[in-house]
Amino acid sequence: MDKKYCQVIGIASGKGGVGKTTVSVNLAVALQDAGHQVMLFDADLSLANAQIALGCRSPYNMSHFMSGEKSLEDIVVTTRQGVKLVPGASGLQDMAALSELQAARIVQAFSSLEADLDFLIVDMAAGIAPVVMAFMAACSRRFVVVRDDPSSIADAYGTIKVLIQDHHLDEIYLVPNAVNSEREGFELYQRINQVCARFLNQPVKYLGSIENDELILQALKKYKSVMEFAPGSAGARDFRRLAATTEHLPPLAQAAGGLQFFVERLVQAPA
Ligand SMILES: Nc1ncnc2c1ncn2[C@@H]1O[C@H](COP(=O)(O)OP(=O)(O)OP(=O)(O)O)[C@@H](O)[C@H]1O
Ligand SMILES: [Mg+2]
Repeated sequence: MDKKYCQVIGIASGKGGVGKTTVSVNLAVALQDAGHQVMLFDADLSLANAQIALGCRSPYNMSHFMSGEKSLEDIVVTTRQGVKLVPGASGLQDMAALSELQAARIVQAFSSLEADLDFLIVDMAAGIAPVVMAFMAACSRRFVVVRDDPSSIADAYGTIKVLIQDHHLDEIYLVPNAVNSEREGFELYQRINQVCARFLNQPVKYLGSIENDELILQALKKYKSVMEFAPGSAGARDFRRLAATTEHLPPLAQAAGGLQFFVERLVQAPA
């Protein structure tokens, strides 16, 4: 049987507060519910982070792992939903400045998880700082969350532009969030895609839209995924659909995917 590679998905948006963590957390849970083994890597250090959204807390984070105080197993927490969560750390900014030994340790530790994992989802910080772009470049696929407002559209486009022009990346998918209907979401995608095709000479792909749903917000306040909090809601339906689309994306070959590749790229990224 062919070796299975973990698909590594980075979730960015440029603009803050448009729904990266919401999409990361709910997609992770929906994929886990569908029978996959999912790990969520919190590369965002803001307050409303993935740990809080999933109602769990870890005493340790990546900084304890990078310093050698703790093993990867020590810092990973398994959420109620079965998702494995790797808590981030401000030390992530220094990923590019690791010693060779540290880097090798990280690559080795993550690679040992490869066989057990189907998806690694990386929740990015807002903005297009070099560390965010290094993370996005290391992923096998990139999902860009966008809302139908001018500043979110401009920032999503700015993110895509850097990914394509500076990092020569493809496998970029748009996730219109908080839209009024799937149709409006698809139209938003089409508008952005036209600009990408015209000015960047490279189209982007459409993954699926998430409706604006008050229950998504309420679920977050209760530290739950929307599938747990309101399984019959539009939000839960949309995330189940997003997970189904994600799991049917063709698996990327070794060169572009895999956990080892992700971590190797990350620790070798220029500062
Ligand atoms: N589809 C949606 N419908 C209703 N509310 C939503 C939706 N998506 C996100 N929200 C709400 O919008 C707020 C911001 O979402 P979230 O924290 O996921 O954004 P973010 O991009 O991760 O922000 P940051 O840049 O700070 O990390 C949250 O209160 C969340 O519940
Ligand atoms: Mg966030």
